[in-house]
Amino acid sequence: MSEPLSPQKAPYGIELEAGKYWWCACGRSAKQPFCDGSHKGTEFTPVAFELTETKQVWLCGCKHTHNRPFCDGTHAKL
Ligand code: FES
Ligand code: FES
Repeated sequence: MSEPLSPQKAPYGIELEAGKYWWCACGRSAKQPFCDGSHKGTEFTPVAFELTETKQVWLCGCKHTHNRPFCDGTHAKL
């Protein structure tokens, strides 16, 4: 499996409204931390997640988390 790009070695802390989202797993999206379709032609696919209420989330920016799409602190070891 090839390595994803790491747009930033820190999470994206953002408040999101209830709804469905697609987190970019490949690191190539210009609309981080969300998928913009740039993964086409790679082995990566986005990770869908859903929120039932407005919530503050920390989405992984390094793309190496073991708890996708959320930051699990792995960025500190890169
Ligand atoms: Fe990265 Fe779609 S652009 S997963
Ligand atoms: Fe990727 Fe924290 S930003 S694990």
